[in-house]
Amino acid sequence: MKAVTWHGRRDVRVDTIADPAIEQPTDAIIEVTSTNICGSDLHLYEVLGAFMHTGDVLGHEAMGVVREVGSGVGDLSVGDRVVVPFQISCGHCFMCDQQLYTQCETTQVRDQGMGAALFGYSELYGQVPGGQAEYLRIPQAQFTHIKVPEGPPDSRFVYLSDVLPTAWQGVVYAGIPDGGSVTVLGLGPIGDMAARIATHLGHRVIAVDRVTERLARATARGIETIDLRELGGSVGDAVRDLTDGRGTDSVIDAVGMEAHGSPVAAAAQTAAAFLPDFIAKPFMQKAGVDRLGALYSAIDIVRRGGTISLSGVYGGAADPMPLLTMFDKQLQLRMGQANVKKWVDDIMPLLTDDDPLGVDSFATHVLPLDQAPHAYDIFQKKQDGAVKVMLQP
Ligand SMILES: NC(=O)c1ccc[n+]([C@@H]2O[C@H](COP(=O)([O-])OP(=O)(O)OC[C@H]3O[C@@H](n4cnc5c(N)ncnc54)[C@H](O)[C@@H]3O)[C@@H](O)[C@H]2O)c1
Ligand SMILES: [Zn+2]
Ligand SMILES: [Zn+2]
Repeated sequence: MKAVTWHGRRDVRVDTIADPAIEQPTDAIIEVTSTNICGSDLHLYEVLGAFMHTGDVLGHEAMGVVREVGSGVGDLSVGDRVVVPFQISCGHCFMCDQQLYTQCETTQVRDQGMGAALFGYSELYGQVPGGQAEYLRIPQAQFTHIKVPEGPPDSRFVYLSDVLPTAWQGVVYAGIPDGGSVTVLGLGPIGDMAARIATHLGHRVIAVDRVTERLARATARGIETIDLRELGGSVGDAVRDLTDGRGTDSVIDAVGMEAHGSPVAAAAQTAAAFLPDFIAKPFMQKAGVDRLGALYSAIDIVRRGGTISLSGVYGGAADPMPLLTMFDKQLQLRMGQANVKKWVDDIMPLLTDDDPLGVDSFATHVLPLDQAPHAYDIFQKKQDGAVKVMLQP
């Protein structure tokens, strides 16, 4: 089959590799019909290379049709149309019983000290072959699937793999009070969708980015925006000007570890990306730093006693945090990978023909799998209007 594989920093290729096969009774194989590129893939493309191996298959936002099943997959059958959550979880352990599917004790990557295994996400998360491919093996398939109805196009459901539950959890974790306000930092797919969901739930949303077409997507949906390029002072001051000098009740950081405006950490990340893996890995695990521009803004923007919700991924082991301010402002902080299946029942009623969240027009680019190297390039460089790319094998 054809698959998108990692070869080095900013080097992904479409290789022909062996088709996946059933390895455990709880496995299923799907034929992938749509599979997205995510902002999380860009971290592998740029700064987390030390944890990747040449030939690793990328991707964690796939959907398709079940072609083969093992004997232990419950009611999953050949021919079912399914979306695949980005995390692999069993559905019956202590953590899964609490709907903490990203912490599943059956798939936890214990030798790395990490939570549940993820598709296509480096050795830190189990080195499981990912979904940017013609076929995908799904471990723990009895639980790691979302059945969706026949009829509507893939665009209706494919974002259940990641974008929708991540944005939904980001909004829930932000604890926005009734009639309250939230600043959303970053208008990539995650921030864009979080802004849509918070608006749909009746909150005031102020969305922040520095890319014209990303800001325009939010403005077109009636969302207030701040363009970082036009600010004289800090984004905190700009938000306080709009909120009686107080700041918003909550902030969602949908940027993560590669934020703009953090030159020192950017240099450290780039240096680490060029080190040989055996030096870079321990360096990242002990002394690694993130670009904290967005998180620092969040701490500044949020009103006293407010809540910050981190959807953006951070990976630093030695990040300096302004605890004086965080403690004094009495902030609450919630974070983590989204527990995908916890939110599906809340989201499904919004995936109807009238499409209140705009999922059917969410992708800016729908390309054949062969075009993946080009797609990664324009998505990372924010060229050609790329906000969300869907690949169709
Ligand atoms: N928690 C989860 O389960 C989960 C799931 C998916 C993605 N993520 C993470 O969410 C983050 C966003 O993902 P995405 O797909 O939307 O990616 P993206 O890279 O397309 O979006 C990031 C956006 O942030 C903007 N930005 C950069 N610096 C900023 C700053 N200082 N202030 C405000 N905006 C700034 C960029 O212009 C860009 O539009 C990534 O870190 C990704 O890894 C987390
Ligand atoms: Zn993703
Ligand atoms: Zn489990």
